[in-house]
Amino acid sequence: MSGPARVGLLGCGNVGSALARLIDEHADVIAARAGVGIEIARVAVRDVKKSRDVRVPPDRFTGDPLDLVRDPDIDVIVEMMGGVDPARELITEALKSGKSVVTANKELIARHGPDLFATAAASGVDLLFEASVAGGIPLMRPLRESLAGDRIRRVMGIVNGTTNFILTRMSDDHMSFEDALADAQRLGYAEPDPSADVQGDDAAAKAAIIATIAFGARVNVDDVYREGITSVSRDDIESAAILGYAVKLLAVAEELEGGISVRVHPAMIPVHHPLASVRDAFNAVFIEGEAVGELMLYGRGAGGGPTASALSGDLIDAVKNRVSGAKGATIGELVERPIRAIDDSESQFYLLMEVADRPGVLGAIANEFGEHSVSIKSMEQRGMGEDARLVFVTHRARESALRATLEALRGVETVHRVGSVLRVLGDED
Ligand code: NAP
Ligand code: HSE
Repeated sequence: MSGPARVGLLGCGNVGSALARLIDEHADVIAARAGVGIEIARVAVRDVKKSRDVRVPPDRFTGDPLDLVRDPDIDVIVEMMGGVDPARELITEALKSGKSVVTANKELIARHGPDLFATAAASGVDLLFEASVAGGIPLMRPLRESLAGDRIRRVMGIVNGTTNFILTRMSDDHMSFEDALADAQRLGYAEPDPSADVQGDDAAAKAAIIATIAFGARVNVDDVYREGITSVSRDDIESAAILGYAVKLLAVAEELEGGISVRVHPAMIPVHHPLASVRDAFNAVFIEGEAVGELMLYGRGAGGGPTASALSGDLIDAVKNRVSGAKGATIGELVERPIRAIDDSESQFYLLMEVADRPGVLGAIANEFGEHSVSIKSMEQRGMGEDARLVFVTHRARESALRATLEALRGVETVHRVGSVLRVLGDED
């Protein structure tokens, strides 16, 4: 490659405009690291008339993304449009025509990553996606490269800033879910339609990508079990705090016997666990490797600047490879591994029950736990009379055994209500 690398931006919204500014403001550093300068040759957007805070001449904007993908003078495409279509077709065409591609698109990679990686490998170009998971936190490269020789046992992450912000407000300011969500929307963390965040879909896409890279396995977003935070109450958070736990929405990818488990759900983690101190809209990913032991990566998982930082690192890599003529970095052969059902996973559990405060009640309840091989770690009674509340924390148990226990407890006459049930992670595992 002679002269500057010519880059086409698909999208110039929140992330795209932050990247355009970063390429402009850090031009010297980027050129020194990439081996050549980087020029934004074309930018595709929906509305070419919209005013944007970037120093890119207006005649480089187009409303047709194919203008970039089919331009033989463009070396690298950076996709920041979002959504599966038309991003998938555009990226596929770009890769097939020998362009390297950098993307921030978790939805696309979580659904079609393996096919796109194969297309990139067949064309000998890069497809890099660091920004698709946990925004500015370097995670894909550490998993793919720094930890490539280790055997990853488990990755447990707070990968959605909006829900972490909401849970932090509920915990620290005793806000209701609704008020904390309204605050997140006012501050621009949550979308007007917050469902992808609060129902766990955003975190599920990230969990699928993490599992794919950590285990070298084909994991699709539809394989990921998910529960969001809409059913977590202020009471649950206060009750967890009394017991020494924080409630977090966790994305978990772990090896189980005969397969892997990939899931997203709220969980209680001990306050001394490193993930418990991750507050507000921050993200963190806790990795357990056979040789490396435990490590945690922490930072901003969203926002224009942090996401553009991750994209720029990928862009430099893609340009550097083209300058040196190196074949694109591939993620290697992905294998098929059984994805175990949620029933096969294990954790400790927290359960809250409303019971009659009479002789023999505890015995009957304890009997149901025992019958289903769920061992009780601790029990606390709060209140007395007809409104007594029992709070149990179990030892590690299989999810299917816990479900069977709950079913049986609902049939015990003195159990008025089985209230909240939350998984407890990071304590006995
Ligand atoms: P955004 O602000 O909505 O920007 C999307 C951009 O793509 C806009 O410039 C839009 O054009 C353009 N666009 C969309 N569809 C198009 C089409 N069919 N043809 C041409 N242009 C099209 O979104 P964003 O927040 O920057 O996010 C972009 C990507 O980064 C998404 O994949 C997202 O998941 C990912 N990401 C975002 C964050 C974050 O914090 N925002 C963090 C990590 C990853 P107009 O401007 O004309 O509408
Ligand atoms: N909506 C996401 C979050 C950011 O709240 O973390 C983009 O992945």
